[in-house]
Amino acid sequence: MQILGIDVGGSGIKGAPVDTETGQLLGERIRIKTPKNGEPEPVAEVVKQIAQSFNWSGPIGIGFPAPIKSGVAMMAANVSEKWVGTNADALFTKVTGCECTLINDADAAGLAEMTFGAGRGQPGTVIMITLGTGIGTAIFHHGHLLPNTEFGHLEVEGEDAEFRASDAARQREELSWKKYAKRLNKYFTALEKLFWPDLFIIGGGISKESEKYLPLLTIETPVVTAQMLNQAGIVGAALGALKPD
Ligand code: BGC
Repeated sequence: MQILGIDVGGSGIKGAPVDTETGQLLGERIRIKTPKNGEPEPVAEVVKQIAQSFNWSGPIGIGFPAPIKSGVAMMAANVSEKWVGTNADALFTKVTGCECTLINDADAAGLAEMTFGAGRGQPGTVIMITLGTGIGTAIFHHGHLLPNTEFGHLEVEGEDAEFRASDAARQREELSWKKYAKRLNKYFTALEKLFWPDLFIIGGGISKESEKYLPLLTIETPVVTAQMLNQAGIVGAALGALKPD
């Protein structure tokens, strides 16, 4: 099936049509800056703009950085408070005129990696962690997703993990890779003790620089980086809009 996949991020909104059977993008990915303050209406207008530039009238799947229940964002850690309680599925559908389905952005990236990337065919428990402005998590068991896990907000040493170990924290505090890897080790160890996973997959913009931190991770569980790099969010958003047969 062909679905327009859109990844809404803090700095950019990216989209491309996706073939959900192969995971291939069917057109050049478009990126538009996220409107200042990232409020619902202006963000929906950007999604409309992306849909129009592909002459799109089919279904749209959108990955969004918040837990989503039945199209409604439940919490706003890195997005405008105005999203909380807004029925985003309905808003995006009204503005674009296409049927829109929202899912959490880390769940989207995880679905893409489990279907077409580093987690394909992986049995047991797999945890996808996206390191970016925030920390997103997606947990799979035998390929099945438990949606909306928010372990980026796990408290580690008295602080929200995302505040200390996101890529934004690394940049904000100008941490060396060695210091940053130390924080990641603490965070991954905390997750290990709670979930006893079989594999961690690291995604987000930082997956491109894996050679700088992967060798410094000392945890027991195997860790790999996402294979789909910055396409995982778009492809997974499209997968999230697939309706069960
Ligand atoms: C949000 C998550 C999101 C993650 C990555 C966190 O702050 O609470 O829902 O998946 O950032 O964008």
